[in-house]
Amino acid sequence: MRRYHVTTFGCQMNAHDSERIKGMLEELGLGEAPSPDDADVVVFNTCTIREKPDTKFAAYMGDAAARKRERPDLVIAVGGCYAEAQRERLFSMYPSVDVAFGPGTIPHLAEWLGAGGFGVARGAWGTAEERTFAAGLPQHRQRSFQAWVQISMGCNSVCSYCIVPAVRGREVSRRPGDVLAEISQLAAQGVREVTLLGQNVNSYGRDLQTSFAELLRAVDAVAGVDRIRFTSPHPKDFRRDVIEAMGECASVCEHAHLPLQSGSTRILKAMRRTYSRERYVELATAMRAAIPDLALSTDVIVGFPGESEDDFRETLEVVAEVGFDSAFTFVYSPRQGTEAAAMPDQIDEEVKRDRIERLVEVVQRGAAERNASRVGLVEEVLVEGPSRTDPSLLRGRTRRNTTVNFTGSAEPGELVDVLIERATSTTLAGAAVRELQAASAARS
Ligand code: 5AD
Ligand code: SF4
Repeated sequence: MRRYHVTTFGCQMNAHDSERIKGMLEELGLGEAPSPDDADVVVFNTCTIREKPDTKFAAYMGDAAARKRERPDLVIAVGGCYAEAQRERLFSMYPSVDVAFGPGTIPHLAEWLGAGGFGVARGAWGTAEERTFAAGLPQHRQRSFQAWVQISMGCNSVCSYCIVPAVRGREVSRRPGDVLAEISQLAAQGVREVTLLGQNVNSYGRDLQTSFAELLRAVDAVAGVDRIRFTSPHPKDFRRDVIEAMGECASVCEHAHLPLQSGSTRILKAMRRTYSRERYVELATAMRAAIPDLALSTDVIVGFPGESEDDFRETLEVVAEVGFDSAFTFVYSPRQGTEAAAMPDQIDEEVKRDRIERLVEVVQRGAAERNASRVGLVEEVLVEGPSRTDPSLLRGRTRRNTTVNFTGSAEPGELVDVLIERATSTTLAGAAVRELQAASAARS
């Protein structure tokens, strides 16, 4: 049997797309290889949000090209955002690539493999005009009890630093009936947690005369799904109706990812984020008031063109004031073709490094404090498997999306109550209540 291997870079949407790529290849009769070394078809599902994933892909591609020199029948397929961004140059930059496709033209991989008989001719993309939802393809899920569900593709925002609108195109919402049918089917298969995915989930439905709040309520009504998550929302579209739906829907988890990007209104304007520092803080406060126990996570960029020390201090102030449960911090990386890449006053690498270190310190302090406040509470944990650091422990996530390592016995996919005993800035630790009770009953 011919075998494939998929390497995934980037965000959850890519993780979802890779599960569809795997499903599609299995439908063609290929089996999954444990590593690229054992595969007849290697697929790279790339990302180009910053320079780092580009460089990482180049290194992987170097290895694959070397393997192909020894085994010319090896098929190398490159998809995703980097492939789309480099559409004009990919085949000349990487002559060993056999087939390339973009995030919206995933089925072309199967068409090409099917028709081309595995590598007889160099295949191309399909065009952006024929973008389709990867959600229509067969799926090979990594975990039986968790699933990604795509609700939209593309993005209509114009954030000046971001390459995504250029590579993923204009926003198109998936029909609510299709989303709900998929979720009902997943629930029937034993899926307990679904994560709704879109580049900007809360602008969902504007092209279909519906809304994200309505969708959340409809998904909440599907029997059998215990946890609903979604990513990523844009603060500008986080309206009252969504906050209310989050507060009222029992299955919607008490967690929101609310990308701040900067705490300086001046920089936010240059980023074209369309909210101010004050508006962001008001939103976070209103959300916490309406949704008891809400966890907030965020993304922050340092070193955007023109960012002064004062602008950066404002970012530190907002991060400290809001108190995030977790945060992804990034050094600004110019992306060719974006508005910000052409701006004057690009910031020195040394200044960027210094700022990110200071930011990480403030983020960690806040997260450690917020996690420490969970000690002594009982949290519901969805078990994912053994702990990554100590296989005698179990690992799972709370509704607030914090990783917990704990003692006890349970199967992956089970919901278990865990007494939280210790905390760091990134994880919690504790013991399953069931086992604690059994031990105390045995003692008395
Ligand atoms: N440089 C650095 N970080 C970026 N992000 C998006 N584009 C860039 C860039 N050019 C970050 C944003 C976004 C996250 C997914 O990646 O914070 O929310
Ligand atoms: Fe990377 Fe953005 Fe594409 Fe996701 S959408 S893979 S983060 S470039």
